Amino acid sequence: MANKVVHLPVLDFGATLRKDNWWIGPAITFVILMGFICYATFRAFENDYYRVGPYLSPFYSPLIPTAGWGIPFLSPAMLILPGPAGFRLTCYYYRKAYYRAFAMDPPACAVGEGGRHDNYNGETKLLIFQNLHRFALYVALGFLVILWHDVYKALWFRDPYGTEASFGVGVGTLVLALNTALLTGYTFSCHSLRHLIGGSVDSYSTAPFGQLRHALWRGVSRLNQNHMFFAWTSLFAVALADLYVRMVSLRVIQDVRIL
Ligand code: FES
Repeated sequence: MANKVVHLPVLDFGATLRKDNWWIGPAITFVILMGFICYATFRAFENDYYRVGPYLSPFYSPLIPTAGWGIPFLSPAMLILPGPAGFRLTCYYYRKAYYRAFAMDPPACAVGEGGRHDNYNGETKLLIFQNLHRFALYVALGFLVILWHDVYKALWFRDPYGTEASFGVGVGTLVLALNTALLTGYTFSCHSLRHLIGGSVDSYSTAPFGQLRHALWRGVSRLNQNHMFFAWTSLFAVALADLYVRMVSLRVIQDVRIL
């Protein structure tokens, strides 16, 4: 007997039988992401207060000097921000979040999206660039190496004459380290990384380096369960790390040496 195709009724936009406040999640997502986009854009154009003592803002790392290029408004941040921004934009978790919060397509589970579903093309047409996430991951892994190097440099404080550096730990060191640790958690919990490590293996027991890959895959899988947590905490942390460097650089606050 042929399978019967069941067409679900198209709900009006926003129509639902849900009794909970389903719109709160997308609304908070919208506010946070818009706030972050506005702040990052402001900082990219500000082109100042990104370096103080041994600290370098993650928005400006790696620091590529653009002063002599003769291009108005071009800042070092504008050259590097497309890397991490592309990684977040194509992230599987963020797609769900911003499809709901910005496009409301759909607004939430079991909430009507109106007739727009008739034109649904998935991620095959306008959104085909989402398939580049794996390549954005390679870029993000490179940024992690640079950011950990920045944390290392944040452990070396120069004397007032700038001639000798001595080991130390300041609040800024901890802020940069926390940011990089959370970004590492975000990157290493990525769905694409999980697939890269173990997704193409039929049998770990017979695959080259099978045992090692299985152990790595289990580790990434464990992190992957908390991908949403890392997505949000690393977003806050990177903005906080930049804000901290900016505030210390402006002398609004003073960095405190712990060691
Ligand atoms: Fe979110 Fe890869 S799926 S960073």
